Amino acid sequence: MGWSLRTLPTLTLEQFAQWCKLLEERTGMQLVPQHKALLESQISSRMRELGLDDYDRYYQQVTNGAAGMLEWTVIIDRIAVKETSFFRHRPSLEYVRNYLQHKINNQSLAQSFDVWSVGCASGEEAYSLAMVINDCFELAALNPYYGITAFDLSMSALATARKGRYAKRKIETVKAEEFKRYTKQTTDGNYEIVSRLRERVCFTQANIINHSNLPGVKVDVIFCQNLLVYFRRWLRRDILNAFTDHLKPGGILVTGLGEVTEWEHPKMQRVSADEVQIYVHE
Ligand SMILES: C[S@@+](CC[C@H](N)C(=O)[O-])C[C@H]1O[C@@H](n2cnc3c(N)ncnc32)[C@H](O)[C@@H]1O
Repeated sequence: MGWSLRTLPTLTLEQFAQWCKLLEERTGMQLVPQHKALLESQISSRMRELGLDDYDRYYQQVTNGAAGMLEWTVIIDRIAVKETSFFRHRPSLEYVRNYLQHKINNQSLAQSFDVWSVGCASGEEAYSLAMVINDCFELAALNPYYGITAFDLSMSALATARKGRYAKRKIETVKAEEFKRYTKQTTDGNYEIVSRLRERVCFTQANIINHSNLPGVKVDVIFCQNLLVYFRRWLRRDILNAFTDHLKPGGILVTGLGEVTEWEHPKMQRVSADEVQIYVHE
């Protein structure tokens, strides 16, 4: 029997711990014991592609020099949890809609409306934001003076996001009206986000644990859901503090419900609402 058909041995607890440490050091993500089977299947499938059958050798390969960094980008793409969907948490998106609508109504939108989607995965979150924001500009018959910068670690997720093409089942959480206005069917039966939205969204690779490398700009909205939950509390706090420095006065930070606990900042006020977890910059 060839090596490619052989079953690889089980990842030992020590090897699992070694991978967990590497992953946390490099991405902030903490794996739990329940992730062992997933990690093992992703690593062993990659090892099979490379013709390797020794976990320790593969670990050495990933952690060794420039070639190791290249291999790291391949394996991290497979390990990272990239689950997402359009309008995954509609109340948070509706809050952004009302926030912008209010600014437009009060004529307090002096500059462009700038948004970050952090941990954007394959783009559904960023395009959902683009849909609600675009609605507001179109409703007010204003030029679409807004921009969304979406960050993720995973190159493969970003490549999907940039294409902006999704299978029908992925678009099912988009309301009929949004679907009609903002998607168009492609010849292969999938659906593409219309270009007037795509040209407002810029997908870029960033590792949020290196938050000092984020662009030195201030934005109106930072949307970060289902990412902080993977990080230790001290790292979450550091990232949230960094986000605060990147918000314009009155800007908002939108996190996942329950994802932030025991964080307070003298410049940030939590919005009192049960359905969303949002902080407003003073
Ligand atoms: C579970 S998905 C969440 C996607 C989207 N925000 C949502 O709520 O549907 C988490 C994303 O965070 C990305 N990620 C994990 N660690 C990261 C890091 N250190 N810096 C940037 N992105 C990271 C993963 O690649 C993945 O695409």
